Amino acid sequence: MSNSLLSLSGWYRALLLVLAMTSMATANAALPSELLGAYRTQSGNAEPDPSRGQQFFNSSHGHEWRCASCHGAVPTQTGRHAGTGKPIAPLAPAFNPERFTDASKTEKWFRRNCNDVVGRECSAAEKADLLAWLLTLKP
Ligand code: HEC
Repeated sequence: MSNSLLSLSGWYRALLLVLAMTSMATANAALPSELLGAYRTQSGNAEPDPSRGQQFFNSSHGHEWRCASCHGAVPTQTGRHAGTGKPIAPLAPAFNPERFTDASKTEKWFRRNCNDVVGRECSAAEKADLLAWLLTLKP
């Protein structure tokens, strides 16, 4: 009984999450601060920690590249793709107003880059930490 209740509430939470992501994706336009709020909610309301985000971004996670390998240690300037050498526009929203304004684009790149760098998807808490740090970077 308690087991089925538990899995039901887990299922319900997953459904809410999907609904939240879908409405974000269909609305398509979002503010970086709204996206941060959504990741925070998904993480169970853990307080995002910018310094943990900075550390995550600059650390090796046991794979060839770090986030910083392509985006630069402080991503306020144009980065360079570590594989192809192609330029990458700044990641910090204050230096690139298009960043974190399209939830489906953000999610697509988080998925791809976290798989490359960490070997798995990033958790909502990790995304919240990363975005909280990027939002501290100001001209
Ligand atoms: C191999 C190079 C590479 C690495 C390593 C990399 N990225 Fe990226 N990243 C890119 C490219 C290319 C894009 C898409 C081009 C663009 O948007 O300018 C991108 C885009 C993004 C975006 C999309 C932001 C938005 O909303 O526009 C996020 C978020 C991101 N990267 C985070 C990360 C994080 C976090 C890591 C480390 C876990 C990381 N990246 C590692 C190359 C990389």
